[in-house]
Amino acid sequence: MITGSGVSAESGVPTFREAQTGLWAQYDPLELATPEAFLSNPTLVWEWYAWRRELVCNVRPNSAHTALAEIERRKPGLTLITQNVDGLHQRAGSRNVVEFHGNVHRNRCHECRALVDASPGAPPPPCPGCGGPVRPDVVWFGEAIAPQALQAAELALACCQVLLSVGTSAQVYPAAAFAQRALQRDITVVEVNTETTPLTAHADYALKGSATMWLPRIAEVVR
Ligand code: OAD
Repeated sequence: MITGSGVSAESGVPTFREAQTGLWAQYDPLELATPEAFLSNPTLVWEWYAWRRELVCNVRPNSAHTALAEIERRKPGLTLITQNVDGLHQRAGSRNVVEFHGNVHRNRCHECRALVDASPGAPPPPCPGCGGPVRPDVVWFGEAIAPQALQAAELALACCQVLLSVGTSAQVYPAAAFAQRALQRDITVVEVNTETTPLTAHADYALKGSATMWLPRIAEVVR
């Protein structure tokens, strides 16, 4: 299972690439979501992530998140690889979650990667271990996926029989490659999306519509 921001859209968390409502239609990712942006203007980047943190603290998981958690309870082998950094899957009860792009609620040192506690308001003091700047524990453009997350996702793909791709534009790599590699290995690929994506034409089943419409139905079939 791989999820993207479309799963959280109906909770009130904006997606990234949708025209008008997507975050990247309103904000420049080069100013907010790259290591260079952070090093040149840490306060701006920190404040933008503080806003996103607050936003996700004030919303609730929706019926798609809940359905995915129920599917995991009934199919304990399920791994949920999410590109979302909002923690809503875990709040809905999903346990085997691979946070492929990190989590906006955690902070870490930019230099030594140690996790650091920081209050949500002002930019935090430097890392107590090495003195490096402290940043949100998310993956930015141009950065590598954390080795542990990559390894867990690879393991899930290796054992996978069905891959469900939900609410992602399937454009950001390496996450987008999982569905493509699954197709090459004759794994059944099911897409749930309100729009057409580069994956739609190749998926074995392309379920057009919202995650909150399809996921409860899929959970019902599993039940
Ligand atoms: P995108 O904004 O690229 O894509 C969101 C997808 O969700 C689109 O294909 C929408 O059609 C679909 N969608 C919207 N609402 C939906 C709904 N209610 N039900 C089902 N589908 C819906 O977001 P992601 O694919 O998550 O990375 O983007 C991937 C990565 O790009 C993000 O993790 C982020 C971003 O830059 C980083 O920040 C590293």
